[in-house]
Amino acid sequence: MKFLLFTFVGAHLLALNSGKAICRNDTSQRTFQEIKEEIACYGDVAKAIIDLAVYGKAQNRSYERLALLVDTVGSRLSGSKGLEKAIQIMCQNLKEDGLENVHLEPVKIPHWERGEESAMMLEPRMQKMAILGLGSSIGTPPEGITAEVLVVTSFDELRRRAQEARGKIVVYNQPYTNYSNTVKYRVQGAVEAAKVGALASLIRSVASFSIYSPHTGIQEYQDGVPQIPTACITVEDAEMMSRMVSRGSKIVIQLKMGAKNYPDADSFNTVAEIIGSKYPEQVVLVSGHLDSWDVGQGAMDDGGGAFISWEALSLIQDLGLRPKRTLRLVLWTAEEQGGVGAFHYYQSHKANISNYSLVMESDAGTFLPSGLQFTGSEKARAIMKEVMSLLQPINVTQVFSAGEGTDINFWIQDGVPGASLLDDLYKYFSFHHSRGDTMTAMDPKQMNVAAAVWAVVSYVVADMEEMLPRS
Ligand SMILES: *[C@@H]1O[C@H](CO)[C@@H](O)[C@H](O)[C@H]1NC(C)=O
Ligand SMILES: *[C@@H]1O[C@H](CO)[C@@H](O)[C@H](O)[C@H]1NC(C)=O
Ligand SMILES: *[C@@H]1O[C@H](CO)[C@@H](O)[C@H](O)[C@H]1NC(C)=O
Ligand SMILES: *[C@@H]1O[C@H](CO)[C@@H](O)[C@H](O)[C@H]1NC(C)=O
Ligand SMILES: *[C@@H]1O[C@H](CO)[C@@H](O)[C@H](O)[C@H]1NC(C)=O
Ligand SMILES: *[C@@H]1O[C@H](CO)[C@@H](O)[C@H](O)[C@H]1NC(C)=O
Ligand SMILES: [Zn+2]
Repeated sequence: MKFLLFTFVGAHLLALNSGKAICRNDTSQRTFQEIKEEIACYGDVAKAIIDLAVYGKAQNRSYERLALLVDTVGSRLSGSKGLEKAIQIMCQNLKEDGLENVHLEPVKIPHWERGEESAMMLEPRMQKMAILGLGSSIGTPPEGITAEVLVVTSFDELRRRAQEARGKIVVYNQPYTNYSNTVKYRVQGAVEAAKVGALASLIRSVASFSIYSPHTGIQEYQDGVPQIPTACITVEDAEMMSRMVSRGSKIVIQLKMGAKNYPDADSFNTVAEIIGSKYPEQVVLVSGHLDSWDVGQGAMDDGGGAFISWEALSLIQDLGLRPKRTLRLVLWTAEEQGGVGAFHYYQSHKANISNYSLVMESDAGTFLPSGLQFTGSEKARAIMKEVMSLLQPINVTQVFSAGEGTDINFWIQDGVPGASLLDDLYKYFSFHHSRGDTMTAMDPKQMNVAAAVWAVVSYVVADMEEMLPRS
């Protein structure tokens, strides 16, 4: 549904703004005070965006659009039919929404399938254990791998006990500190276990909270190190096995995994724009990823981020606004396999890097935002703080450090300012990469606020007379 009636409001606001003497738009170098005044002029636009997204006709729209997609296609694993279908539907959706330059950019992506899988504890007692194979893992032989377990809590402990690991299944019971610090056990656990002669590895799910839920994710093999099957187990089972061995019990597990890697599949990054009125070749990139894991619905990771990014352009369009710079929406493919779609996009577009003002990605939840994470120069940060002050009406004004996202990091590392949305990460990593990542984890009101923040930031940065300074 579109809201053409808001065109009038937008035009009115613009007229209001250009009438003020302080709202200059000359291209000369400005003092910070002048930039501050320029940003303050967007107060009315910001209020209009907030009113529309949080209280007005667009209320709950990103949630409802997302629910329709994920209920229709389900999960969207790299290389799957679900992802392919989602891309086609989104391309159609963006065209029907009236956005400009809607197109698909082709890219080859990994295709892995988990197949049938199970883990059975045979000693000290029989128990079926919940597991999820890790992305890119090989499978086991059809009869499975039956072996004694070595439980360790860290890579250091594994190295100290290397002699004991040969011929065993290594179980990592690493404590959860935060995602970035703990995820190395998922990514490198199989390689480290294989180096000391293990037959398979099981990692405690990298999750902030568990009700017996395995949380999958990508893992990486290394050249020259034997490939062994690897899966995640629940926090509960990892802790139980830790207790069992501390009492001197011997644990034996039978692991069966039908996982298989197939040749790369055809896929696409999905792109739509609002073309800039004055500097169309300059870009503010707004993004989330469309692919997900194969369990749950990928509603949170990253359906939410993808759909508030679309919503940002919809809101701006509904208000009849057209920023000076181009607002480009990109829905990435194969983020979960290591930013495969985004890397291809970066390689094919980096020739224009000097014309990217800001790259944005929301991929850490669209719950009530606590603020914006930002990477950029001190000057750019000061500008972002002014922009965020426009969100005072919904009390989301904080600017944190470390703006990032798998898909935008390529640009950030090359000096482009980058922004990401920060919210309750404890909640995010409770559902992350698990069967629980469904619409039930999402909150329409919180998505409204997240979309308003996303729209205000992207619009104002795209419309300011100057690009964000890189130094
Ligand atoms: C501001 O921009 C408008 C339209 O782009 C232009 O007509 C006007 O002359 C500009 N004003 C200044 C002070 O540069
Ligand atoms: C938006 O969702 C909230 C929470 O579910 C609900 O209370 C509200 O009525 C919805 N608004 C509209 C316009 O559907
Ligand atoms: C994550 O935890 C580690 C170890 O506790 C700490 O050194 C690091 O600063 C933390 N990182 C973040 C992003 O909080
Ligand atoms: C670079 O930007 C120009 C417009 O300034 C556009 O015509 C061209 O297609 C862009 N190139 C790439 C590789 O994105
Ligand atoms: C960037 O945009 C400017 C105009 O704003 C244009 O003159 C320049 O050629 C563009 N640079 C690249 C690398 O496309
Ligand atoms: C505004 O947000 C801050 C944290 O960002 C919080 O401490 C404060 O209680 C909030 N104020 C209101 C009125 O919600
Ligand atoms: Zn994600």
